[in-house]
Amino acid sequence: MTDLKKFRLGVLGSGKGSNFVAISDAIAAGKIPAEVGIVLSDVEGAGILEHARARKLPVQFIPPGKFRTKLDEESERAFVAALSAARVDLIVLAGFMRVLKGDFLRAFEGCIVNVHPSLLPSFPGLEAWKQALDHGVKFTGCTVHFVDAGVDSGAIIGQQTVPVLDDDTADSLHQRIHAAEHELYPKCVAAIARRDIFVAGRKVGWKK
Ligand code: GAR
Repeated sequence: MTDLKKFRLGVLGSGKGSNFVAISDAIAAGKIPAEVGIVLSDVEGAGILEHARARKLPVQFIPPGKFRTKLDEESERAFVAALSAARVDLIVLAGFMRVLKGDFLRAFEGCIVNVHPSLLPSFPGLEAWKQALDHGVKFTGCTVHFVDAGVDSGAIIGQQTVPVLDDDTADSLHQRIHAAEHELYPKCVAAIARRDIFVAGRKVGWKK
């Protein structure tokens, strides 16, 4: 019998969830051959959980524990357990603001992607759009990449440029980068779900 198992996504976010909405809308429009298995957040009132509930998707808030920038061991175990129970094929970080470490990365090696609001390797870390504006670059953008043990350092899947305008403020630039993310992220997730890309070390390419 044909295997009808759908490619399943586990989505993690800490914020308003606009990238999750873009991905979820792309699934509904038939542009990504996948389904969302679970949506998890480290922030109880996060908008991403509301958006997922409105779409009748399974959601869970998991307290992050005692650290500010990463999950503590108990929390990490709970995230891994929830994602394993949901049988996800790909973990999609959509504004998840904690660095993932050892056991989590080992459990899902090569199966975690993230979107970052700059053209990496420029401006990793927080408020990347502000870093770009302060630096005076003429173009910035967004990057979708695999997650490795570093900060915003994994192999790059796709990038989209955004020009920096003379009268840009941090807010106006951030808004345009966000809009670019909403185009780029669903395309990259679709490419992975369709098995259209290959990974060779740091190089991610399109299969011919
Ligand atoms: C996005 O701009 C994403 O690039 C950023 O958080 C925002 C989440 O927005 N992620 C990072 O900076 C991760 N290093 P959203 O909750 O509306 O999708």
